[in-house]
Amino acid sequence: MAFTGIFLIIFLIVHASANACIFVPDHGATFNKVAHFLGTNWIMHLLEVGLFVGFILHIVQGITITIQNKKKRPVKYSMVRRPDTHWYSSAMGLLGIIILIFLIIHLSQFWVHTRFAGVFGGVGDITYDNGMYVNKPVDNLFGQMELVFSHAWVVIVYLIALLALGFHLAHGFQSAFRTLGMTSSRYIPVIRGIGYAYSIIIPLAFACMPVLMYFGVVHS
Ligand code: HEM
Repeated sequence: MAFTGIFLIIFLIVHASANACIFVPDHGATFNKVAHFLGTNWIMHLLEVGLFVGFILHIVQGITITIQNKKKRPVKYSMVRRPDTHWYSSAMGLLGIIILIFLIIHLSQFWVHTRFAGVFGGVGDITYDNGMYVNKPVDNLFGQMELVFSHAWVVIVYLIALLALGFHLAHGFQSAFRTLGMTSSRYIPVIRGIGYAYSIIIPLAFACMPVLMYFGVVHS
């Protein structure tokens, strides 16, 4: 779980950084070109397969661990958690389910439209007359984002999921590094600090995207 978790932690940094190109004030040109580069590059396609395998393994491992823990202790402890632990440390399964539901909605809104355009309808193309990919049609993912984030309920669903992601990461980040052996009292405060910073910065960066698009601050 620790390995797949760290792999997904790295994916989120790459994903948030690529998406942050929507904040370049050029009406989505930089973002669409970066997304096209990432979406048509064979290395990225290979990594994408690894990513989906990573997600599935992480989910299966999470479910297995939850079931095993329940089986080991069919009668619940009278004190549910230690006073020095946070509520979200014992709610990782629930938080994971919220993230999984989000992921299904999220992939159906973006990924299936670029990868299975013939079946689900594409996101539409756009052509630029300067910079990278001159006069070469690229997927208008920026336009698709504007469309998706024009609905208030979608923005709310994203914000709930990103809050869940933040708490999931707040425990998951440090837990992963501890599992991999970083248990010395010298490392723990550092890992904890980085973990908390990561679990605030990444979800917050993602949250800015639907919110700023919904309110028209970021637009084409
Ligand atoms: C507001 C936040 C987010 C936005 C605007 C966003 C946007 C996108 C877009 C546009 C794509 C399609 C890329 C393509 O088909 O070329 C995509 C794919 C994907 N997103 Fe997100 N995303 C967000 C948050 C997240 C989060 C929090 C996760 C994971 C927990 C996630 C996981 C994925 C995965 C697994 C894919 C498919 C793999 C890939 O194409 O890289 N996304 N996202």
